Amino acid sequence: MTSEVTDKVRTRYAELVAGINDAQHRYYVDDAPTLSDAAYDQLMHELEALELEFPELVSQDSPTQRVGAGEWLGFAAVDHAERMLSLDNAFNDDQLAAWATRVERDAGAPVRYLCELKIDGLAVNLTYEKGRLTRGATRGDGRTGEDVTANVRRIKGIPHKLAGDNPPDLVEIRGEIYFPAQAFADLNAAQVEAGERTYVNPRNAASGSLRQKDPSITARRALELIVHGIGARTGFEPASQSDAYAQLKAWGLPTSPRWKVVDSLDEVKAYIAEYQAHRHDLEHDIDGVVVKVDDVAEQQKLGSTSRAPRWAIAFKYPPEEVNTKLLDIIVEVGRTGRATPAAVLDPVFVGGVTVARATLHNQREVARKGVKIGDTVVIRRAGDVIPEILGPVEALRDGSERDWSMPANCPSCGTTLAPAKEADVDLRCPNTRYCKAQLVERITYLGGRDGFDIEGMGTKAAIALVEDKVVTDEGDLFALDEKQLASSPFFLKKDGTLSTNAGKLLANLEKAKQQQLWRVLTSLSIRHVGPTAARALADHFNDVEKIATASVEQMSVVEDVGGTIAEAVREWFAEDWHREVVEKWRAAGVRMDQEPVADTGPKPLDGLTVVVTGTLEGFTRDEAAERLTALGAKVSGSVSKKTAFVVVGESAGSKLDKALSLGVPTLDEPGFTVLLEEGPEAAKAYSDARRENA
Ligand code: IVH
Repeated sequence: MTSEVTDKVRTRYAELVAGINDAQHRYYVDDAPTLSDAAYDQLMHELEALELEFPELVSQDSPTQRVGAGEWLGFAAVDHAERMLSLDNAFNDDQLAAWATRVERDAGAPVRYLCELKIDGLAVNLTYEKGRLTRGATRGDGRTGEDVTANVRRIKGIPHKLAGDNPPDLVEIRGEIYFPAQAFADLNAAQVEAGERTYVNPRNAASGSLRQKDPSITARRALELIVHGIGARTGFEPASQSDAYAQLKAWGLPTSPRWKVVDSLDEVKAYIAEYQAHRHDLEHDIDGVVVKVDDVAEQQKLGSTSRAPRWAIAFKYPPEEVNTKLLDIIVEVGRTGRATPAAVLDPVFVGGVTVARATLHNQREVARKGVKIGDTVVIRRAGDVIPEILGPVEALRDGSERDWSMPANCPSCGTTLAPAKEADVDLRCPNTRYCKAQLVERITYLGGRDGFDIEGMGTKAAIALVEDKVVTDEGDLFALDEKQLASSPFFLKKDGTLSTNAGKLLANLEKAKQQQLWRVLTSLSIRHVGPTAARALADHFNDVEKIATASVEQMSVVEDVGGTIAEAVREWFAEDWHREVVEKWRAAGVRMDQEPVADTGPKPLDGLTVVVTGTLEGFTRDEAAERLTALGAKVSGSVSKKTAFVVVGESAGSKLDKALSLGVPTLDEPGFTVLLEEGPEAAKAYSDARRENA
């Protein structure tokens, strides 16, 4: 029985065709996708279902009637000699175990598994005839792809001729083209510089770079290949996947250094867990691990479905890009007055955490992303990186979405927002002293780790102090007494007497008066003055008063203090009420100077950059950093080739991996003590000896 095609169905059909075609165009041609894979699949399923029910609807321009999008770009269609299959997925251990059980049952015996990374790139098929590269093609629909021979020939690392004397008559090499993480960052930076559109992610950058009509553009992009299989072949019959990789490598093809053959499912799981923990330390994006039966005879025995081999499975990591609703855009005012639009999201699990907020930076970003309130948006959260909105899913709009524009007034105090300088994009609330939002943020910051580090003075206490008017501004903090705190219910017990926490807060404030000078400086919330600049200023001038009166020239010569910071400090002290804050703190007993750091000439760790990661037993992070800086080292949060040592505590994660991959010496806690007490050479020897024994 066929149903009647109503107007509603017709309209929806047209919407779907247009929406998917638009999405494909954005994905394939613009390389700026607006739909997550899941949202795209959802639309495609709906379209297929409609076409099944109403075959008379199927139109020429339906995306179901087209192979890929190559025709848009004008690449010729080419058939693969052997189909390029896809992979079935496992999303958890149970699904993986179910697959392994089936494999071992069908194989009739335990099998050896080859584990490798599932590279988030773009599949290609390279045909070598008598050792010569004769064709390169994209995957397309698996049977037919796009001819990109001229482009793949321009990719460094893809041999035009296989090494060795005995190449097979024919072999199809399958692999993944990807954009290395660093090169991707550089490419986007260059695109920005050139006023060009940036790429959403490395996969799209890879796709866009390979599918260029002008192969010389492909040649300039840092694309790389990792091979992960073979298709049709004559004169090449490897006995196992691992043997095949060894031969491909001998032919000069880029194989992965990370594949591993294991004997048990437990080892497979260990491999999966290891790379899940370190997925962001690799030179390319991965979205999972591919597990393959190693033995080719067993592969053949297991066979394939029309879609995917039974002898392989992709274990997928939790997604880092998902869709959710943008419920609202609110404006938050930070401690230096900057007004930042923030997205309020329907909470969604992405990149291992639930995300309900994401910054939109400024009004220009909102416009650039083209998001409206009520939109379905694509969210990305990778590793420790803060969640980001990539863009709206325009195909899912229903007309109820609302445009957003930056309000003219501060949402906290109502003052007219304005840029600090005419050319600035960021808007600020100029009511720095009394704007409650700013004051709460400043007090929270000065109570925090980079400020005075005062236990009991977090956001809630700051709100109470400000809302209940216990303080007018941060100048009053160090003169607080019990009576003043008692004026806020937050600091009282039910019976109306002062709470224990209030008592502790007063004691902690008292203690904080002796904090180091750099902490006093960061706590002033001077724009651009974070811990590094504050330390530099403190150690150069040793006294707040000297900093207050120093000229821009005197400050900007200090290492780690540039012109921008010097100007910001100058401007800050030019404000009367700022000076009053300092005077009030001084009068309340806050230390405003330090013993000059004795200039004993060069220090043992001068010029060395050290990274501390994980938990140490004998030092807090701050203590470790203090000890290092006192000896002249620079403490950094990220590992690079220039890092001299990485100090590795308990539960160290990605930084350890990065150190190992870059060959940066690592030190455990005893090694760290060697560095502090005996210097870099002894520490290097210690690190080398440990590595040899490992
Ligand atoms: S094997 C017959 N191995 O993932 C087996 N594929 O979701 C076919 N991919 O189309 C693929 N890394 O483009 C294999 N190490 C890897 C892979 C990999 C990425 C891609 C490949 C495939 C897709 C399936």
